[in-house]
Amino acid sequence: MTRKKIAVITGASSGLGKEFVKLICQKKEIEEIWAIARNQDKLNKLKSQTGRKVNPISMDLSDLSQIETLGQMLADSQVTVCYLINNAGYGKFGSYSDLSVAESVNMLNLNNNATVAVGLTCLPYMRQGSHIINIASQAAFQPLPYMNLYSASKAFVRSYTRSLHMELRDRGITATAVCPGWMKTPFYERADIGSSHTVTRFRCMASAAKVARKALADADHGKDHSIYGPYVNLCHIASKLLPQKFMMRFWLLQQHLDYSRPSQQ
Ligand SMILES: NC(=O)c1ccc[n+]([C@@H]2O[C@H](COP(=O)([O-])OP(=O)(O)OC[C@H]3O[C@@H](n4cnc5c(N)ncnc54)[C@H](OP(=O)(O)O)[C@@H]3O)[C@@H](O)[C@H]2O)c1
Repeated sequence: MTRKKIAVITGASSGLGKEFVKLICQKKEIEEIWAIARNQDKLNKLKSQTGRKVNPISMDLSDLSQIETLGQMLADSQVTVCYLINNAGYGKFGSYSDLSVAESVNMLNLNNNATVAVGLTCLPYMRQGSHIINIASQAAFQPLPYMNLYSASKAFVRSYTRSLHMELRDRGITATAVCPGWMKTPFYERADIGSSHTVTRFRCMASAAKVARKALADADHGKDHSIYGPYVNLCHIASKLLPQKFMMRFWLLQQHLDYSRPSQQ
């Protein structure tokens, strides 16, 4: 029996995820796109805009039991996952003290635990030539004070994905860590929590469509890393050459955020 060729895209209802849906819709070999996000209305709208291939699935991926439901859905369907795009994620601008314990842990649950859990859930249904695309960030290159959890979570995604890529070579499956700089998406609506330590400078904003196109091309070429644009490439090189303390001071300076010295006891 032939298996249906599908793509699973998380965070599909908005921003970068939506651009991935549009691009994968154009791939003739992909018969169905499992488009996952929480908001059912937005997913239905996505389906009406992009067409019959899209199968909207409302799920909160910060809840592991809902990822188990995804596993059951895969087990009940005759499918091969040709693309898994782990894109759902968010950040918050502010100090460690602006977020509750629950909010902090929720961010890690989505950005990290869901990326791992959805990946491991889909891998049994992937075959030679399948691709995992995990969305990290330029924030993965260095620690970012006042986006501390977010940058740490994206460093995890980048490191995890690149080692997974090596481990999957014998199965002919690739894993690509995508590291976008600032992109024009609704990301900022959730990130801005009105903190006095907020991030306000968004240098060299890129279009999410261009980032998605490069990420797909890099994945198709078997690369373990995808970086779009000269500015992000420059930051990547700088992060390899310069001490992280220097990079953090530069970030604070660029964002007009105070670098306070420890108080004298
Ligand atoms: N925008 C940037 O400047 C930028 C830069 C670097 C990296 N990134 C990364 O790019 C990825 C996409 O972000 P974006 O910029 O496109 O932001 P976005 O427009 O806010 O999209 C986030 C997507 O994730 C979904 N989502 C959020 N929480 C979820 C949950 N608990 N369960 C399931 N889905 C959830 C959202 O839909 P619902 O709200 O309906 O669930 C939405 O579809 C993220 O991983 C982000 O960290 C963004």
